Amino acid sequence: MFKHQTKYFTTPIFYVNDAPHIGHAYTEVAADVLARWHRAAGVDTRFLTGTDEHGQKILRTAEANGASPKEWVDRLVAQEWRPMLENLNIANDDFIRTTDARHEAGVAKFLQRLYDKGYIYEGEFEALYCVGCEEFKPKSEIVQGAAEFTGHKVCAIHSKPLELLQEKNYFFKMSAFQDRLLELYERRPDFIQPAPARNEVIAFVQQDLTDLSISRNTFNWGVPIPWDESHVTYVWFDALLNYITALEYSTSVVGDEPGSVALAKYWPAVHIVGKDILRFHAVIWPAMLMAAELAEPECVFAHGWLLVGGEKMSKSKLTGIAPHEITGTFGVDAVRYYFMRAINFGQDGSFSWEDIAARYQAELANGFGNLVSRVLAMNAKYFDAKQPESGDLTGADKQISELAARVTSLANEHITKYAIHEAIAVVWQLVDALNGYITEQEPWQLAKDEAQRVRLATVLATATEGLRVLAQLLAPVIPEAAAKLWRSLGAVAVLGELSEQNIAAAGQWHKLPAGTPQEALPALFPRVELAAGVKK
Ligand code: MSP
Repeated sequence: MFKHQTKYFTTPIFYVNDAPHIGHAYTEVAADVLARWHRAAGVDTRFLTGTDEHGQKILRTAEANGASPKEWVDRLVAQEWRPMLENLNIANDDFIRTTDARHEAGVAKFLQRLYDKGYIYEGEFEALYCVGCEEFKPKSEIVQGAAEFTGHKVCAIHSKPLELLQEKNYFFKMSAFQDRLLELYERRPDFIQPAPARNEVIAFVQQDLTDLSISRNTFNWGVPIPWDESHVTYVWFDALLNYITALEYSTSVVGDEPGSVALAKYWPAVHIVGKDILRFHAVIWPAMLMAAELAEPECVFAHGWLLVGGEKMSKSKLTGIAPHEITGTFGVDAVRYYFMRAINFGQDGSFSWEDIAARYQAELANGFGNLVSRVLAMNAKYFDAKQPESGDLTGADKQISELAARVTSLANEHITKYAIHEAIAVVWQLVDALNGYITEQEPWQLAKDEAQRVRLATVLATATEGLRVLAQLLAPVIPEAAAKLWRSLGAVAVLGELSEQNIAAAGQWHKLPAGTPQEALPALFPRVELAAGVKK
């Protein structure tokens, strides 16, 4: 099950040249669900997210908006990025910005360490650069432009012309790590997930691995190279280091890495990233860590694209949808649920307003919300809004309690493999089974016969206990609805706060004592006025 004492989840740190769209929201929610679940399983968990604020892309955007780069990033972080996290109910433990002093000091320290170890050298360089990717492009990602860019070489991802850069740069001897990287992928098959991502990286590294240009000297929006302040650090080299600078790397003892308490405790990390930036995380980053003699990440998990109209959602291609547009219509829980349920984690998935509306109605409103309302309403009507006292369990009741135990253990197992969609699908078996159970047991018929009073109590106690299990198992995904349900079951008074419950033990039965007072609960997923809110 959950083998580790500690766990460290990270998201990419996002470029703040623009406001977030739901592609960014998707990554945040996935990492948040994993972090919340591990915390609930009693694992000492740290969850880091943040913003990537240096580089040419941001510098140019700031200039185009008549702001200094620092003014620009401060504004976007405060007005767009932090509010997105709040709006999505993201429970991150830390938020790192690459303009933080702790980060800049850590980058300088790391560079100096590699320089002293002889892994950095000076050289001349000429290559095609994509400012959108912030990357010198490999041949495989350079294509001929079309329409207004006919005759130009363009980036295969951004379809915009590449810039020929000719500079004196500092280089990181990444080629020296080719064999060690291949050995790492071989020795630890789970290092890169899912499997197709792993295969892609192995094929890439098996080709010639070149050294990496890690400095720029034509602009100064970045972390200065410590031994040559006429250069700033390449934005990706700078950005990747956030994962350790957030663990106090800058104050750790050189020569005795990892000297910081946080680094020793939480490193290495599980990096949740989109597949666009897999290579940076699975090739460059472990090579950097090897050079510094730090442990490689625990895992790099590359998730797929959120597609809109069959295309990767992106602001530059104008398919971007702001997270608040959908949370405003469906509520934050529904959006979190939809992202995690509708898309197999690790694969591409299409977003559409019709699809989220359909799942909202069928699964959240009719499937789960209605179940909760019915059971609580019957408890109120027949048992004075108190947990009924269960009699002996019959076969049908036992099937429910056994399913609850099975579903708990399977869902937890899926989470340890980062299969979030599978975990939710398994939990939903309990939602469906409880709905079927109520239909079959017909408590409203039992209520008509005083002789069936114990049976009625047993059925409703069983169903309510099922709701208690669901509140625990769904808390990482739909935290607001789960907390409301937990309160209305009266569970806080008898079992403590939902956040204190062990999710791995959610399937234990008879946890709610008979007589526990319950509270009325308005519909968890009320009808959404689709005609007004839904864009087609
Ligand atoms: N700043 C770098 C990351 C540095 S990490 C050390 C960067 N930033 S980004 O703003 O471009 O974010 C890219 C990430 O945003 C993707 O890897 C993914 O997590 C998320 N997504 C952006 N668009 C997305 C989709 N359409 N679908 C899914 N995720 C998307 O790259």
